[in-house]
Amino acid sequence: MGVKAVPQKGLEEVIAASTRLSDVDGKQGRLWYVGYDIHDLAADSTFEEVTYLLHNLRLPTEPELDELAERLVSEREVSPFLEGLMPTLAEQTSPMSMLRTGISAASAYDPDGWDNGPEANERKAVRLIAKTPTLIAMYHRMRTGEVIVPPHPKLPHAANFLYMLSGEEPEQLDAAALDTTLILYADHTMNASTFTARVIASTLSDMFSAITGAIAALKGPLHGGANEEAMKMLEEVGDPANAERYIKEKLGRRERIMGFGHRVYKTEDPRATHLRRLSQEMGKRKGDTRWFDISAEIERVVGQEKGLHPNVDFFAASVYRYLNIPTDLMTPVFALARMVGWTAHVREQYADNRLIRPESEYVGPRDQVYVPIDRRG
Ligand code: CMC
Repeated sequence: MGVKAVPQKGLEEVIAASTRLSDVDGKQGRLWYVGYDIHDLAADSTFEEVTYLLHNLRLPTEPELDELAERLVSEREVSPFLEGLMPTLAEQTSPMSMLRTGISAASAYDPDGWDNGPEANERKAVRLIAKTPTLIAMYHRMRTGEVIVPPHPKLPHAANFLYMLSGEEPEQLDAAALDTTLILYADHTMNASTFTARVIASTLSDMFSAITGAIAALKGPLHGGANEEAMKMLEEVGDPANAERYIKEKLGRRERIMGFGHRVYKTEDPRATHLRRLSQEMGKRKGDTRWFDISAEIERVVGQEKGLHPNVDFFAASVYRYLNIPTDLMTPVFALARMVGWTAHVREQYADNRLIRPESEYVGPRDQVYVPIDRRG
């Protein structure tokens, strides 16, 4: 057996799968979904259209988009089983744990059951995308003692989520801002949660299991949990004038600044460009530029001290604050967007599957002599 090359720690630069869904150029700071530049999609598309694109590998015609949008609307309600489970989840679990458990539990009442065929999985994907916002909003209203707001039959995905969360139809500009963030979060090549989903799918386990694993991976602060941590940091800083001292002290303690740095991007994350602009616009529009101003000052200091750029999670925090999304729902909102990418990757994995089973480099002792327990010590 020849000597095998050991990949860099954290599988850096290892190509773990082939995909037609998205591509990143980390040096140029570019991102494409199915070959379409993220800047064009963020400017001109909608979340529903991007959903179609990632699941069909082409842009829809108008009737095709209408049909998908209608299917998503018709699948928004969650099962009575989940409704029954929700009071306990709302009382006992954090939002991401609720989502992990809720999606896992949703498999029990999926009409396609254990059918793991391509058509059933396309339908499961639509249901998962459609129901995730409902679960999050239902959980939030239950834990705050407010009446549950059923999904709105006429509002698109982003607007409906804000509606179910607050009980009021959102302003058009707010709904559009959320929609843009969902487009930006929808997919991102072989990130940790997508990789997790593909590993699970590669065992031919079911889509709900793969997505449950993906949610678990997203929850961590080095991945999706970073947007919540970034928001907590903005709150701790409290005023742009405190940012320099706060960041220098944090770096002095060798702590990480959440929402900065990226495994692949070595320059501006193209998603951050849009989120920075949205944060600034929303601050002005709402007459409260504090969250943007603190963010901009943190960005300046982190750039000066560490040369690090903000990633997607940094300016998403202030944008979501301006949308009145509670801090601990920011990662679930990331999940509701990434549900599109996860489910598309799982379908892509099934379509051309081979078990993902890498090897490890053994670094422990060898040829140890077993001593029976009564003769040890
Ligand atoms: N703050 C301070 N130092 C940092 C940061 C940061 N945010 N990111 C990287 N570094 C430093 C790190 O300390 C290390 O320095 P040294 O070599 O002196 O010890 C160097 O940069 C390389 O770090 P690394 O951990 O080897 O880099 P990585 O490619 O494994 O990490 C990362 C990528 C995203 C985990 C990391 O940048 C990080 O922890 N960022 C903060 C968490 C975060 O924002 N995560 C969201 C990632 S993007 C979207 C998403 O997945 O949700």
